[in-house]
Parts: sequence; structure tokens; C-alpha cells
Amino acid sequence: MKFFIDTASLDQIKEAKDLGILDGVTTNPSLMAKEGISGDKNVMEHYRAICEIVDGDVSAEVISTDFKGMVEEGERLSDLAPNIVVKIPMIKDGIKAMSYFTDRGIRTNCTLVFSAGQAIIAAKAGATYLSPFIGRIDDISWDGVELIKDIAEIYAIQGFDTQILAASIRNAKHIVDSARAGADVVTCPLSAILGLLKHPLTDIGLEQFLADHKKVNELLLK
Ligand code: E4P
Repeated sequence: MKFFIDTASLDQIKEAKDLGILDGVTTNPSLMAKEGISGDKNVMEHYRAICEIVDGDVSAEVISTDFKGMVEEGERLSDLAPNIVVKIPMIKDGIKAMSYFTDRGIRTNCTLVFSAGQAIIAAKAGATYLSPFIGRIDDISWDGVELIKDIAEIYAIQGFDTQILAASIRNAKHIVDSARAGADVVTCPLSAILGLLKHPLTDIGLEQFLADHKKVNELLLK
């Protein structure tokens, strides 16, 4: 399973990269806004900066919602760097745009996915990645991980090669559950990635090991 970080923060991207486990980055207009990045020129520059840090795929989202606009924007984004993946919303014109990009060998990430039906039509349009938003499904008292399982089963039966990118991940348990459910990729905030490291017994065990080591060494020195 690939690990992407879901942020537009260059510092967080570098921190995740330094762990040696980072396979890519996803962003969205809200994450760009959170970093104070606005205006076409600055947005493009920021994507370029992200692509300089990361070798893996970087999803860059279009703002347009009509076919012509998405194609124009997507082509400009994909010209920025070879690892750019054009992120397109799950709407009618989005499906048309994904089919257009598929025919031209430009990779896409279908975003804002909340149902198995949407997953099927995105795969038919040739999306490289499909982003079901599991946290937002949980937020409305439904089960986001169940959707990942459902899509993984359908894609396996049908032989679709679109990769399931579990998105809207909020914590380490979402990562573990997505791995079990058959996600090909998880995109997570840095806090969820770091959450995977934590266990109180690890901390207690390490403290004990170091204390025992110190005790014996102190005895030897006497
Ligand atoms: C996916 O690519 C989105 O950027 C992201 O995962 C959305 O997550 P949120 O629901 O935490 O905003």
C-alpha cells in the first residue's frame, strides 16, 4: 500500500519524506487556502515546489467545473511536472474530462467519491486513482471503510485497474482499516501517519530497557 500525505504544507511534506515512507502527495483547494496560497501564478509555483520535493505522484486539483475549463486547467497542471496527477471532481463534466485525459495518457485522480456507483463510472472513464472520502462518510454516521471494501470487491471482480486511494483519513485506525479493506493508497494528514508509531507499551518498554542498561553500567563503574 502506498502512503501519500494530504497537505499543501512544504514543511510537513519534507517531514514525511524524511521518514523514508512517502510515496506521494494529495492537495485540494482548501489545503492550498490553509497555506495562504492563492492566485493562479502562486498556485502553479507551489505545485512546482511540491514536485521538487517529492518524486512520487502529486495530485493537483482543478477549480473549474465545466469540461472546457477542466481540460484547459488540467493540461496546464500536467505540464508542470511529470509526476502531476490531475485531480477532478466526481461530476458529469468531470467524467468527460477524465475520459479526455485518459485518451491522451494524462493521469487523473477522481475526487469527492462517496458511493460504489461513482467508483464504477470513474473506473470506466479510466481514472488512475479514485478517492473515496472515508472520514466525511463517518462524519454523517455512516461507515467509510465499508465503502472501501465494497469498491475493492467490485474492482477485483471486474478487473478495473483504477487504484483505490482512501482519502479524508483522520487517524491511524483509518489507515489500518483501509489497508485491511484493500485500499491501494492512503492519503493522510501527518498526524495520522505519526499516530501509527504510537503505543504506550513501546514507551514503557523503552524506558525500562534504558533504565536497566543505565543501572548495570552504573554498577560496573563502582
Ligand atoms: C483528498 O484527496 C482530500 O484532499 C482530503 O483527503 C479531504 O479530507 P478532509 O475530509 O479531511 O478534508
